[in-house]
Amino acid sequence: MAKKEIPATRQTTINAQPRIHQHAAEIQAYGTVSHGLPLELEEPVRLEMTEQLNLLLADTMTLRDLYKKSHWQVAGPTFYQLHLLFDKHYDEQVEIVDEIAERIQLLGGVSLAMAADVAETTRIERPPRGREEVPVQISRLLDAHQLIIGHCRQLAHRASELGDDGTNDMVISDVLRANELQVWFLSEHLVNMPLVEAKEPSVTAGAV
Ligand SMILES: [Fe+2]
Repeated sequence: MAKKEIPATRQTTINAQPRIHQHAAEIQAYGTVSHGLPLELEEPVRLEMTEQLNLLLADTMTLRDLYKKSHWQVAGPTFYQLHLLFDKHYDEQVEIVDEIAERIQLLGGVSLAMAADVAETTRIERPPRGREEVPVQISRLLDAHQLIIGHCRQLAHRASELGDDGTNDMVISDVLRANELQVWFLSEHLVNMPLVEAKEPSVTAGAV
């Protein structure tokens, strides 16, 4: 019996060499969404939501990195507690970043990922490379939280208007609430309390 001919296009050489240095065109452009997804959400809705979520993602990735910068560079008598607190908030922001990015992907969009793209997109003010005092570190973090919280409220409202309940729920339950809680933990550090000796009652009353 004659051997079956394998078409030339299917002939491959089998060996153990990894095919490295490969390049090809993108399979989906940034700023687009896949067409036919069984989500019962129209393409224009998914386009608007993924665009807004990418802004939220860029700001959240920047806040995440601001926490690590603060964790490394913090100085002074509250070093230990702030070093730990900043890293706890960093870990929580890492989770939020992943949730937002994966929501963009499941809506058929393309998530921002690389630092250069994030830097071009975020609306959070760029800090200096050097170290800053604790009150300045905390103020920067609070400003970033405030920007994200404001965007969350507006984005959640718009998602609800457009019928994207999943985005509304994620933005409120996972992003907004976590940011609100972190704001509380940070802002209490900016209350000017005496460390060792309480103020005289007359002095405190006079200040009101
Ligand atoms: Fe660390």
